[in-house]
Amino acid sequence: MTKIAIGSDHVGIELKPAIIDYLKSLGYDVTDFGTNSAERTDYPIYGKKVGEELAAGNFDLGILICGTGVGISLAANKVPGIRAVVCSEPYSAQLSRQHNNTNILAFGSRVVGVELAKMIVKAWLDASFIGGRHLRRVDELAAIEQHDEQKFKALQTSTSSRYAD
Ligand code: RB5
Repeated sequence: MTKIAIGSDHVGIELKPAIIDYLKSLGYDVTDFGTNSAERTDYPIYGKKVGEELAAGNFDLGILICGTGVGISLAANKVPGIRAVVCSEPYSAQLSRQHNNTNILAFGSRVVGVELAKMIVKAWLDASFIGGRHLRRVDELAAIEQHDEQKFKALQTSTSSRYAD
């Protein structure tokens, strides 16, 4: 069963319970890393936590919610190995999985309503990385993250069949 880590700040809790219920109805194993109170808190806490849980291999995918989805995704993207995307429509969500191999989806409770949020989540979860020519680009992202300029340049000139298509 696919394990999903979810987190939000105090603004995101308006939407989070409905998303958790939806994920469970689809058969996903969901763990909520907070917050679960309307008391003001800081989105980096939850973006970092979900990112680290995922990077440690404890979960397969992550979902993050704040007011816009921006701050919490920025926090998650500071964790090595995390590729978090903010989406307010399903097309980008789907393509972010197929082309960019995103492992965290973020959205804003002040931006999308519950039904649109569910459509975004479904589009993202139903898609998977298609590899091929997209693999090199995702590997280039990793090289940037690792400050490996040599690898970054080598990937760009690679003619390996691994990248054919
Ligand atoms: C909190 O007011 C708000 O800044 C936060 O939820 C999020 O939208 C930040 O990106």
